[in-house]
Amino acid sequence: MFFVIVALIGFVVFAFAVTDRGRGQVLVDRAFLEYQLGDYYGWLKNRVSNPVYWSRISSCLRDAHVCSGMGRIVQDPATGVLATESADMFYQRQLSPIESGCCKPPMSCGYIYVNETLWNPGVGMAVNDVDCSRWSNDQQQLCYRCDSCKAGVLATLRRSWRKVSVINIVILIVLVVVYAFACGFRKSKWMDNGEAYGQARMTKSRSCRFQF
Ligand SMILES: *[C@@H]1O[C@H](CO)[C@@H](O)[C@H](O)[C@H]1NC(C)=O
Repeated sequence: MFFVIVALIGFVVFAFAVTDRGRGQVLVDRAFLEYQLGDYYGWLKNRVSNPVYWSRISSCLRDAHVCSGMGRIVQDPATGVLATESADMFYQRQLSPIESGCCKPPMSCGYIYVNETLWNPGVGMAVNDVDCSRWSNDQQQLCYRCDSCKAGVLATLRRSWRKVSVINIVILIVLVVVYAFACGFRKSKWMDNGEAYGQARMTKSRSCRFQF
């Protein structure tokens, strides 16, 4: 029991330490957030950015069809014609970190929306972000090589590790309460048995506290 509690505390501390930073960036007039690799640091970031791991992760993303599933067909209320959603509709969508980071170019590049995963270069585009030149309209490439995609994966990991940590903390509290009750119960039983102030009681109650 003691070791389970220590292991759980260890995991919670580790999970919070490696996912310490990295919230999404809020953009003007966009409902979705964008994610930047520079907001992350440490062990988990190095793992995800490692070329060997990244080639595996990005091929998983490709195989999972995360981006091709993003397309939305909407009906024009006036004509009843089905078409892909407009840029304005797309900008008001909530996107997952991976959809935002991997399936579209960063907004700051100035690409012009065609559909969710097809963007034309704009005139006089800023290329201060290397991700701008990494973007490809090839539906197998998209932004899978972008740093924003790595950041999107890190943001996703962060969310799921945090969720697991919350569950762990709840389990931890239950375990500690159960453990404390068990110790208290044992102690009061010794007292009832008339062992009060005896050497045995002292060592037993101490050992319980020490174990804890
Ligand atoms: C966007 O258009 C391209 C070319 O027509 C198509 O291959 C792609 O699947 C479309 N993207 C989505 C998300 O539907």
